[in-house]
Formats: sequence, C-alpha cells, structure tokens
Amino acid sequence: MKHTKVKDLLNGTKTLHEVKAKGWVRTFRNNQFIALNDGSTINNIQCVVDFENTPDEILKRITTGAAVSITGTLVESQGAGQSVEIQVTKLEILGDSDPEKYPMQPKKHSLEFLRENAHLRIRTNAFGAIMRVRSTLSFAVHQYFQEKGFFYVNTPIITGSDAEGAGEMFRVTALPFDGTPRTEDGKVNFKEDFFGKETNLTVSGQLEGETYAMALGQIYTFGPTFRAENSNTSRHLAEFWMIEPEVAFNNLADNMDLAEDFIKYVIKYTVDKCGDDLKFLEQRLLDEEKSKPQAERSEMALLEKLSFVMDNNFKRVSYTEAIDILKSSKPNKNKKFNYIIDEWGADLQSEHERYLVEKHFKCPVILFDYPAKIKAFYMRLNEDGKTVRAMDILFPGIGEIVGGSQREERLDVLLQKIADLGIDEKELWWYLDTRRFGTAVHSGFGLGFERLVLFVTGMSNIRDVIPFPRTPQNAEF
Ligand code: 4AD
Ligand code: MG
Repeated sequence: MKHTKVKDLLNGTKTLHEVKAKGWVRTFRNNQFIALNDGSTINNIQCVVDFENTPDEILKRITTGAAVSITGTLVESQGAGQSVEIQVTKLEILGDSDPEKYPMQPKKHSLEFLRENAHLRIRTNAFGAIMRVRSTLSFAVHQYFQEKGFFYVNTPIITGSDAEGAGEMFRVTALPFDGTPRTEDGKVNFKEDFFGKETNLTVSGQLEGETYAMALGQIYTFGPTFRAENSNTSRHLAEFWMIEPEVAFNNLADNMDLAEDFIKYVIKYTVDKCGDDLKFLEQRLLDEEKSKPQAERSEMALLEKLSFVMDNNFKRVSYTEAIDILKSSKPNKNKKFNYIIDEWGADLQSEHERYLVEKHFKCPVILFDYPAKIKAFYMRLNEDGKTVRAMDILFPGIGEIVGGSQREERLDVLLQKIADLGIDEKELWWYLDTRRFGTAVHSGFGLGFERLVLFVTGMSNIRDVIPFPRTPQNAEF
C-alpha cells in the first residue's frame, strides 16, 4: 500500500479504511499517542499505538525525531482539536533518533539556537510554517507574472558589471587549472581573474533584464543576488533572492501600479493557501508579545495586518514632501531620531523610513522623485535637473521592500551621467546599445524576496526566513 500525506488524511472524510502514513515523531505520550508530522502541513496526525501488543523494544524506539511508517485504520477522533486519528495496526521504525543526542526536543528553542542548527530547525513548527509560506510566495510570484504575459529571464550570476555602482561585490576568482592549487608556502594560488576578466557575483539582474525587456516587452527575473555589505542588521543578507520585473513603455506611475498590484496579489494568494501556517505564526507572535509592555505591542495581529495591506492603497509621496514631513516632525526636540535630516538631498535612514510608514502615514508608502545624487546612474532624470524618477516602497516593520525606477532612455543624458560618475563607458557598451537602437521609455523594480517573506510571516530577523542564511557570521553550510 502506498502511504498518504498527513495533510490529505486530515482533510479526508472517508474513515474506517486502512491507511499508511510515513513521517517523523514529534511527541510520544503515555506510551500510546504518537503525534506524527510529515511536513505536508503544520498539523500532526495522532496515531494510537496498541501498546499492550507492541514489544517494549519497539516502544522504546518511538522517540522525538524518529522516522516511522505507520499502517492502521483511520477513525474519527475522540480527542479535542483533531478530526481523525489512526488506530495503529503495524508500526515500523525507519530511522532511530537518539533522545540523548537529538537537539530538537519538543520544547521552545531560542531563534539563535535554531540558527546554529539551520539543517534541523526546519523540523520545528515555526520553521515548517515559514518555509511552506516562502514556497507558496515563490509560486505566486511566477503565477502573477506568467498570467500577465511576462517572460521569465535567467540573468547571469557571474558578471562583469556592477549594476548598482555601489561596489558591494564579491569578486569571482578561478583556481589555476594546472592542478596545483597551493603555492609552496601552502597558500591558495588564485588565478587573478575569471578567464582574464574581472568578474563578481551579481548584485542585481536589472541591466541584463533591461536588454530583454527591450525585445520581449515585459520580463521578470527571480534569482539569487549578492551584496558584500558588512551590515549586520536584521534586514540584510549577503545572499538574497530578488524579483526584478522590467517593462518596455512603462513610465514611473505604471511602475508603481505594477509593484502595488503585484505585492497585493502574492500576499492574497498566500493568505488563501497557507491559512493554517499563518494562523500558527500569528499565535506565536501574540504569545511573544505578551511579555512586552503594552505600548510596544503591535496594534494589529498578523492576518489583520496582511488584510490591511491588501485592502488599502499605498500612499504615494515625493521625496521632497517626505523631507518636509520629517523636518516638521520636530524629531530633535523629542529625540526621535539619531540622525536628523535638515537638508534636502540627504539619504533617508531606516529610522526616517519607519517614522513615515509607522507613525505618520500608518500604511505602506511609495516614495518617489529622489535626488539624483543618492541614486544609481541608470535612473531617468526629471525636468528639474536634480531629481530622478526613482521609487522605493516602504513597509511597516520592514522599511524598504522595493527599489525601482523609470530608466534613463536618452543616450546623450545617460552618457553624460556615466562620464560624471567616472564609470568606463566601454564596460557598458552592450547596455548602451539598448539606447542606441530602438530606445524607449521603460521601467522596472526589484523586490527583496526575504523582506516580503519577513512581512508575511511576521518574523523579525531576515536570517529566519531563508533556509541557509549567508551573513558575515554565518556561511558554514
Ligand atoms: O534597492 P536595490 O539595491 O535595487 C536594485 O538592485 C535595483 N537594480 C532593482 C531594480 O530596479 N531592478 O535592491 C532592491 C531590493 C531592496 O528594496 C531590498 O528589498 C532588497 O532588494 N535588498 C536586500 N535584501 C536583503 N539583503 C540585502 N543585503 C539587500 N539589499 C537589497
Ligand atoms: Mg534601494
């Protein structure tokens, strides 16, 4: 007999028939009740063992973490909180788990401890829920763009370009090909560059994505990107996944509409599909908040917060308006900010972004028309000659979740910008060809996938929403 997924057993209505399930023991109570989980759902199925007729050697091996195969009859459950259970007729231990050594005992572990055990933390309820939500969000991303006729483009991971011009890149070098990877003193003898050219891991697929948008019309990327920034924050990873749509003939307003519609769609899709996981995560947060003073607790529970984002328009505000709001908030008097903005042209710090979103507007905000000086070279210069058609989307509790812009489509203006920044024009010859041949208005944005997963799961550290986080401290496996 083939085994059935626990999710399907729990959702099925046909009882009193023989079933088989395989999974891992979460708990074993009173020598009788196994809570079995197979990862298909956050919910366990209870399996009732006929302990009088089960040898002691087997009972002893039913421990937390052990893999088991269970055959039995699916019956309506007498216990509260579960519809069905399995009356076990045959139990096979597939893989033992030594209770003296297994780190994932059924108790609450700290997130720090779990991070050190990234390969095992997925066996906890919280991480099972987070990673199922992450998977569903990924699928929703593809579904959204595919339904709208966008084409999925795989841009290079190893590249010679620095799309953001921020210099936060990991260099790619090649080991020598002659089989002597070490010098005499034992050091790794790297070849200088990759195939004779200076290359790095991509920080963004945008520039390559633009070349595809200028042929296929509307495209998106969804892949890993890398930033060698040494920022140890709860919002930054050295390796993160980014979704970058790019659309020919879209202006900045179209770009904002697309980003807002896209975010609402993927959240709605996930709320519809991941109800049990999100309810669990919501309860987890509520329990956590009980230990905080009232003033620090969030005003909305997780699902309410997600509905709020889906049901309300994002507030669209220019950078200049935002600066005026920040200036008149008298932050210096109330000591609200460590870093006070008193001049137009300064970059916003995350505390300013959070003030705008969480205190002032109390909803997601799209900030646009930033000073040219603080943004990347490829953004479309406005008629005022000092701002560019940039847009950042700021989310409550997260800060920046999206960065995008209308692109500079005029060759002469772009060349001037490149020259002013001291970028070598020859490095970008292929990019500039899009402006030489059939240039047109076009726009796009990048959404940091982990920041979206953070928002949807309500987690507070980005290391907890990617399977194996890469941060300056953590790249062990
Ligand atoms: O604002 P960024 O740097 O924009 C770009 O890379 C553009 N090329 C995107 C485009 O227009 N196609 O990054 C985009 C988003 C940020 O808003 C943030 O959500 C996320 O990527 N991000 C990070 N996420 C996790 N860890 C980091 N170190 C991140 N850096 C950026
Ligand atoms: Mg940005």
